[in-house]
Amino acid sequence: MRHYLDHASTSWPKPPGVIEAGVSFQASCGAAAGRGGYRSSQEADRVVQSTRRLLQETIGAAHSDEIAFCTNGTHSLNAAIFGLALGSMGKPFHVVTTATEHNSVLRPLALAAKRGWLTWTAVECDPTGRVDPADVADAVRPETRWLFLNHASNVTGYIQDIAAIREIADRHSIHLMIDAAQSLGYLPIDVRDSGIDILSAPGHKGLGGTLGTGLLYVRREIQSSLAPLLIGGTGELSETIDGNFSWQSVIESGNLNVPAIASLKCAMEWKRSAPGTDYSLWIQQLLDAINASSKFEVVGSQRRSLHSHVPIISVVARSRNSGLLSQELAMMMESMANVECRAGFHCAGLIHKSLNTTDCGGTLRLSMGQTSQADDVVAACEGIQRVAEIL
Ligand SMILES: Cc1ncc(COP(=O)(O)O)c(C=O)c1O
Repeated sequence: MRHYLDHASTSWPKPPGVIEAGVSFQASCGAAAGRGGYRSSQEADRVVQSTRRLLQETIGAAHSDEIAFCTNGTHSLNAAIFGLALGSMGKPFHVVTTATEHNSVLRPLALAAKRGWLTWTAVECDPTGRVDPADVADAVRPETRWLFLNHASNVTGYIQDIAAIREIADRHSIHLMIDAAQSLGYLPIDVRDSGIDILSAPGHKGLGGTLGTGLLYVRREIQSSLAPLLIGGTGELSETIDGNFSWQSVIESGNLNVPAIASLKCAMEWKRSAPGTDYSLWIQQLLDAINASSKFEVVGSQRRSLHSHVPIISVVARSRNSGLLSQELAMMMESMANVECRAGFHCAGLIHKSLNTTDCGGTLRLSMGQTSQADDVVAACEGIQRVAEIL
């Protein structure tokens, strides 16, 4: 039996009915949303709009037109970053971000900087993955317009302090973008209470939808600062080629992945009535298994609570320069215990220097989600023990 502990990449298995919701939409309706007045196209529209409203409620957005569907987290972050860079009309601005960011933030920033559209500073984190808000404040310059923050690290699970970062943004009158890829669905997020101007997240991780959706929230007042990345069919004003199209319809140019949106809707409805998962016991079991072995070490802090970490644990060989690479550990976990977990640098290009995990090829990462089971965690603990015995 397969034990899947890679929810930080994408959640699996999906909650009950989620796959069927997508298949059933495709089989019984299957029409394009926003493209026709006939009944099934309107039905597709209803699926999209009701899912949008669920997302609006989930993140506390004031208006549903502040949320656009994308295909994944990477797409939504790119739409935000390049949108802001291109929308600045040739006036470069400065961004403060952190070393904990995913490459879907770091690479667009690097590319935009290479083209002279912006400059950026990545603030270091400590060996637990925590970013000190004082360091963020020190990095702000007169030309800084944006703070980009990864809410929860996809390597250590550490949750950053949004309120402290927002205070810095307020002090300097700058905007805040949050990458909630690892937090939405795990932690409550309220964009208005937290003063978040832009929020990006995939629909297929903590929210439980199938692959193929992401969301981008942009506060109404900010929307005109973003230039479109792509433009084409929007289903409205079709006789016009150079119109004043709405921000949301531009982001959603082209046909939406309505089957995946139908799945996301089902997942979010399921989540509302499902009992919340308390990850504390599982986290403790994993920490105990890792600590019981002289061969492994937890990356980052051992002191974990639901307020400080999402359910992600990274592990390395205790002697980090032993030549044992994280990829080899992952292969052993699968072959010896049927545990599927991810190894490597986890598309996080800068954090490993601070974590001292470069020479060991990154980390072995165990990540849980709402459909994880106790026996997945037991299998992972046994896997750690078995691998340790042969090292
Ligand atoms: C922190 C973070 N941001 C962004 C992404 C990109 O999301 P997606 O895989 O949906 O493109 C990920 C994916 O793992 C992530 O961990």
